[in-house]
Amino acid sequence: MNSLLKLGAMPRRTRPVGQPTRGKTALNRLRQIDVFIALTYADVLSSGSPLIVDVGYGAQAWTALEMRERWLTINPRLRLLGLEIDAERVAVAQPYAQQSLIEFKLGGFNVRDATNGERARMIRAYNVLRQYEETEVPAAILTMANGLEDGGILIEGTSNPTGRMVVSDVYRKVSTSLRHEMLVFGTNFREALEPVDFQTILPKRLIHHMRDDAPLRFFEAWRRGLSIAKGAGRTNLREQWISAGNYLRDQAGYPIDPRERLLRRGYLALRDPLLPLAWLDS
Ligand SMILES: C[S@@+](CC[C@H](N)C(=O)[O-])C[C@H]1O[C@@H](n2cnc3c(N)ncnc32)[C@H](O)[C@@H]1O
Repeated sequence: MNSLLKLGAMPRRTRPVGQPTRGKTALNRLRQIDVFIALTYADVLSSGSPLIVDVGYGAQAWTALEMRERWLTINPRLRLLGLEIDAERVAVAQPYAQQSLIEFKLGGFNVRDATNGERARMIRAYNVLRQYEETEVPAAILTMANGLEDGGILIEGTSNPTGRMVVSDVYRKVSTSLRHEMLVFGTNFREALEPVDFQTILPKRLIHHMRDDAPLRFFEAWRRGLSIAKGAGRTNLREQWISAGNYLRDQAGYPIDPRERLLRRGYLALRDPLLPLAWLDS
């Protein structure tokens, strides 16, 4: 039986699912994610008055508010729900609530319980799962996905403290199942990067598997692509990034999203989870 169906049959829980973790956040920290979604998934957000949910917005509501603000150009009718498992953080966010448009509530991975059954078009959980155990990841992802509309998107990822570097898993709910759509690496080109630098902010499901065959080969191929770009005299960081992305796709055979504008903006979107995700289809 599909995992989402199994979870869908679970009894409703009144208590938030998860545990309190550190609440560190920063203004503009998740800008790169918001821009990536705007560039890639505007069609998902554009119709109706969809609900978007930020799970674990942190000690301040900044990144949740910024997310909505950035996507309002796609759809001015977006409604934001910020969920926090820490009651004090919910209280701190209340001054930013706006009736029927922006709400902050106590809640956990069981998004659907917090929305009284309404399903969200987009759910983001950023810098949250990194503080959990790897074994807790499948249930957390599937529980959040249970709160998505059909066709809705779940973004789970990690950034460095400033948001200069980000890595995201993007999942899509299709009927009663959840699909992994892409693993996205992002940079704002402020500093030179090596592919290995991303390894510290990989999704929790991947971070302890860097010696596994598929991640090892991918990062090695990426390193080689970058080194070829440098060897060819490319000194501009953006040009190096684009060239390495093209190498990964054209020479190494990786399914990198071919849209030039994504690479140019600093996004390497790999349509491969690099590890089997048996829990998605079990
Ligand atoms: C490091 S902060 C991330 C803040 C913000 N998303 C960011 O990336 O800057 C993690 C937050 O997630 C919250 N959190 C942890 N587990 C949670 C859960 N299961 N549901 C809701 N919030 C959770 C913590 O209370 C904490 O405030």
